[in-house]
Amino acid sequence: MAQKKTILVTGGAGFIGSHLCNRLKTEDCRVISLDNYFTGSRDNHISGVEYREGHTKDIEKHVPETPDIISASIRVWKKVWENPRSYGTSTSRVPSA
Ligand SMILES: NC(=O)c1ccc[n+]([C@@H]2O[C@H](COP(=O)([O-])OP(=O)(O)OC[C@H]3O[C@@H](n4cnc5c(N)ncnc54)[C@H](O)[C@@H]3O)[C@@H](O)[C@H]2O)c1
Repeated sequence: MAQKKTILVTGGAGFIGSHLCNRLKTEDCRVISLDNYFTGSRDNHISGVEYREGHTKDIEKHVPETPDIISASIRVWKKVWENPRSYGTSTSRVPSA
Protein backbone atom coordinates (compact mmCIF):
# COMPACT_ATOMS: atom_id res chain seq x y z
CA MET A 1 0.00 0.00 0.00
CA ALA A 2 1.32 3.45 -0.92
CA GLN A 3 2.30 5.71 1.95
CA LYS A 4 0.10 8.74 2.54
CA LYS A 5 1.46 12.00 1.22
CA THR A 6 2.31 14.65 3.79
CA ILE A 7 1.22 18.14 2.84
CA LEU A 8 2.32 21.22 4.74
CA VAL A 9 0.06 24.25 4.55
CA THR A 10 1.72 27.37 5.87
CA GLY A 11 -0.87 29.84 7.10
CA GLY A 12 -3.33 26.98 7.54
CA ALA A 13 -5.37 28.86 10.14
CA GLY A 14 -6.02 31.78 7.81
CA PHE A 15 -8.76 32.36 5.28
CA ILE A 16 -7.27 30.72 2.22
CA GLY A 17 -5.20 28.21 4.21
CA SER A 18 -8.17 26.88 6.14
CA HIS A 19 -10.18 26.36 2.97
CA LEU A 20 -7.17 24.62 1.48
CA CYS A 21 -6.86 22.37 4.56
CA ASN A 22 -10.55 21.57 4.31
CA ARG A 23 -10.15 20.55 0.69
CA LEU A 24 -7.00 18.54 1.31
CA LYS A 25 -8.65 16.56 4.10
CA THR A 26 -10.93 15.08 1.47
CA GLU A 27 -7.80 13.48 -0.02
CA ASP A 28 -6.13 10.50 1.61
CA CYS A 29 -3.18 12.49 2.90
CA ARG A 30 -1.68 13.83 6.11
CA VAL A 31 -2.14 17.59 6.41
CA ILE A 32 0.02 19.72 8.71
CA SER A 33 -0.57 23.45 9.22
CA LEU A 34 2.15 25.81 10.36
CA ASP A 35 0.71 29.13 11.46
CA ASN A 36 1.90 31.88 13.77
CA TYR A 37 -1.70 33.04 14.40
CA PHE A 38 -0.74 36.60 13.58
CA THR A 39 -3.98 37.02 11.65
CA GLY A 40 -5.17 33.40 11.67
CA SER A 41 -7.56 31.93 14.19
CA ARG A 42 -8.10 28.62 15.93
CA ASP A 43 -11.75 29.05 14.98
CA ASN A 44 -10.62 28.11 11.46
CA HIS A 45 -9.20 24.74 12.52
CA ILE A 46 -10.32 21.75 10.49
CA SER A 47 -10.79 18.38 12.14
CA GLY A 48 -8.05 15.93 11.25
CA VAL A 49 -5.42 18.57 10.42
CA GLU A 50 -2.29 18.69 12.59
CA TYR A 51 -1.73 22.27 13.76
CA ARG A 52 1.63 23.61 14.76
CA GLU A 53 2.20 27.12 16.00
CA GLY A 54 5.22 29.01 14.75
CA HIS A 55 6.75 31.29 12.15
CA THR A 56 7.87 30.03 8.77
CA LYS A 57 11.37 31.32 9.49
CA ASP A 58 11.64 28.45 11.99
CA ILE A 59 9.99 25.94 9.70
CA GLU A 60 12.61 23.24 10.16
CA LYS A 61 12.17 23.35 13.93
CA HIS A 62 8.37 23.12 13.77
CA VAL A 63 8.18 20.69 10.88
CA PRO A 64 11.02 18.17 11.09
CA GLU A 65 9.23 15.93 8.63
CA THR A 66 9.97 16.34 4.93
CA PRO A 67 6.59 17.12 3.38
CA ASP A 68 5.85 15.84 -0.10
CA ILE A 69 4.17 19.14 -0.89
CA ILE A 70 4.30 22.59 0.67
CA SER A 71 1.48 24.93 -0.06
CA ALA A 72 1.64 28.46 1.25
CA SER A 73 -1.20 30.88 1.64
CA ILE A 74 -0.76 34.13 -0.26
CA ARG A 75 0.78 36.25 2.49
CA VAL A 76 3.46 33.75 3.43
CA TRP A 77 4.05 32.51 -0.10
CA LYS A 78 6.76 35.05 -0.90
CA LYS A 79 8.81 34.10 2.16
CA VAL A 80 8.75 30.42 1.32
CA TRP A 81 9.39 31.06 -2.35
CA GLU A 82 12.39 33.32 -1.71
CA ASN A 83 14.29 30.53 -0.02
CA PRO A 84 12.78 27.18 -1.05
CA ARG A 85 15.87 25.17 -0.12
CA SER A 86 15.22 26.01 3.53
CA TYR A 87 11.85 24.33 3.36
CA GLY A 88 12.67 20.76 2.46
CA THR A 89 10.87 19.41 -0.57
CA SER A 90 9.55 22.57 -2.06
CA THR A 91 7.06 21.87 -4.75
CA SER A 92 4.38 24.44 -4.24
CA ARG A 93 1.23 23.18 -5.77
CA VAL A 94 -2.02 21.70 -4.70
CA PRO A 95 -2.87 18.24 -5.98
CA SER A 96 -5.50 18.33 -8.65
CA ALA A 97 -8.98 17.17 -7.71
N1 LIG B 1 -15.10 36.14 4.23
C1 LIG B 1 -14.24 36.56 3.32
O1 LIG B 1 -14.55 36.73 2.15
C2 LIG B 1 -12.81 36.80 3.72
C3 LIG B 1 -12.40 36.55 5.02
C4 LIG B 1 -11.05 36.76 5.34
C5 LIG B 1 -10.18 37.21 4.36
N2 LIG B 1 -10.63 37.45 3.11
C6 LIG B 1 -9.71 37.88 2.05
O2 LIG B 1 -8.78 36.86 1.86
C7 LIG B 1 -7.51 37.42 1.57
C8 LIG B 1 -6.49 37.06 2.61
O3 LIG B 1 -6.53 35.72 2.87
P1 LIG B 1 -5.24 35.00 3.35
O4 LIG B 1 -5.65 33.59 3.66
O5 LIG B 1 -4.11 35.26 2.42
O6 LIG B 1 -4.86 35.82 4.68
P2 LIG B 1 -5.02 35.39 6.19
O7 LIG B 1 -4.44 36.51 7.00
O8 LIG B 1 -6.41 34.99 6.49
O9 LIG B 1 -4.12 34.09 6.28
C9 LIG B 1 -2.72 34.13 6.38
C10 LIG B 1 -2.33 33.15 7.46
O10 LIG B 1 -0.94 33.06 7.48
C11 LIG B 1 -0.50 33.17 8.84
N3 LIG B 1 0.85 33.69 8.73
C12 LIG B 1 1.27 34.89 8.21
N4 LIG B 1 2.59 34.98 8.20
C13 LIG B 1 3.06 33.81 8.73
C14 LIG B 1 4.34 33.29 8.96
N5 LIG B 1 5.45 33.97 8.63
N6 LIG B 1 4.45 32.06 9.51
C15 LIG B 1 3.35 31.33 9.81
N7 LIG B 1 2.09 31.77 9.58
C16 LIG B 1 1.95 32.98 9.05
C17 LIG B 1 -1.50 34.06 9.51
O11 LIG B 1 -1.54 33.92 10.91
C18 LIG B 1 -2.79 33.59 8.84
O12 LIG B 1 -3.36 32.47 9.52
C19 LIG B 1 -7.69 38.91 1.56
O13 LIG B 1 -7.89 39.31 0.23
C20 LIG B 1 -8.94 39.10 2.42
O14 LIG B 1 -9.59 40.29 2.11
C21 LIG B 1 -11.93 37.24 2.77
